[in-house]
Amino acid sequence: MHKDFSEPQDRIFLGIETSCDETAVALVSGALSKNSYPKGHILAHKIHSQVALHQSFGGVVPPVAASSHSLQLPALVKRLLQTAEIKPHQIDGIGVTAGPGLAGGLLVGVMFAKGLSIALKRPLWPIHHLQAHALVARLTHEIPFPYLVLLLSGGHCQLAVANSPRDFTLIGESTDDAPGECLDKVARCLGYSYPGGPSIEAAAKRGDPFSVPLPIAVSEHSYNFSFSGLKTACLRWIKQQQDLSFEKKADLCASLQNAITYSLGKKVSQFLSALPPASRPAFAVVCGGVASNGYIRQELAPYFQNYGVSLIAPPAQHCTDNGVMIAWATYEQSFAGMEGQFNFSTRARWPINDHSLQRAKYSG
Ligand code: KG4
Ligand code: ZN
Repeated sequence: MHKDFSEPQDRIFLGIETSCDETAVALVSGALSKNSYPKGHILAHKIHSQVALHQSFGGVVPPVAASSHSLQLPALVKRLLQTAEIKPHQIDGIGVTAGPGLAGGLLVGVMFAKGLSIALKRPLWPIHHLQAHALVARLTHEIPFPYLVLLLSGGHCQLAVANSPRDFTLIGESTDDAPGECLDKVARCLGYSYPGGPSIEAAAKRGDPFSVPLPIAVSEHSYNFSFSGLKTACLRWIKQQQDLSFEKKADLCASLQNAITYSLGKKVSQFLSALPPASRPAFAVVCGGVASNGYIRQELAPYFQNYGVSLIAPPAQHCTDNGVMIAWATYEQSFAGMEGQFNFSTRARWPINDHSLQRAKYSG
């Protein structure tokens, strides 16, 4: 049904995401004409969450994740095509998360995508999961390159500049835990289920963000982040409580969100204040699973606005892992004239500023 809205020259891109605990696929359609900005839209998307599989373990179990991806992926793609009323041969290009992520899951997605690429004789793009998190904001908001990226996920915390769909400059990153990891571990100690972020956000709505004093690591000498001290302080505070009432839990959750936001905001201010005003980007994007947190999104904005930078947060469902961001990143690369490629392998570790897996050459 969505197909009717497509222009005849629109191309259809399939995105496949299996890097962690969501099997997710999407179809994005967009024109390749040389507009100044890529104009695409979502034809359909599907997600199969493995949360229930991993919940009893308190975190993702890699082999369980990989076997679930291989079980779910073919049927999910079939349902995706049915929903979009698209035949396989109508797909013009395929993008798949090649890293970073869990090795087994990445392999499942990449093998499936390569098989499809051969069967359909369509080009394939290896997509960088973190870059895709940062790019998907351009689907819903017009954000020109270069822009600042604050990526907050379960495994990463990075401040970067997006220069093009696959050229990123890393400014700073967490030297220990990611904010999502910190939230998940504290949530687990509070008895909340995995992933902890949504439970912490819900509890925090009833708490006082200034009630529990928590340490904030702010080094003056680098743009790196650190969250392990904050996590340890929360765990120690939990142990010290005689009784852990709902009110106390809510206060800790609110204080933790506040401490994470403050430490991110201070680092952003430190970076932006060091840039001459003319060199500051007009836009910044906050993305990754933790960016779906309403409090963190809202409270971060002034740290950017103080330096004339508008902070954009993609819709919450585009912040946590999803297939749309992979399909969109594929469209972005094709739109920018970046060729697909077949000879690549997965990269469980893959820095955001490393282009070695992808073709350096632009065809256009
Ligand atoms: O980007 P993502 O979906 O997966 C990774 O690439 O890691 O991020 C997952 C992280 C988890 O740590 C989860 O607890 C956190 O995002 N998260 C949240 C919220 N929803 C998910 N954190 C805070 N508030 C939320 N509402
Ligand atoms: Zn992610």
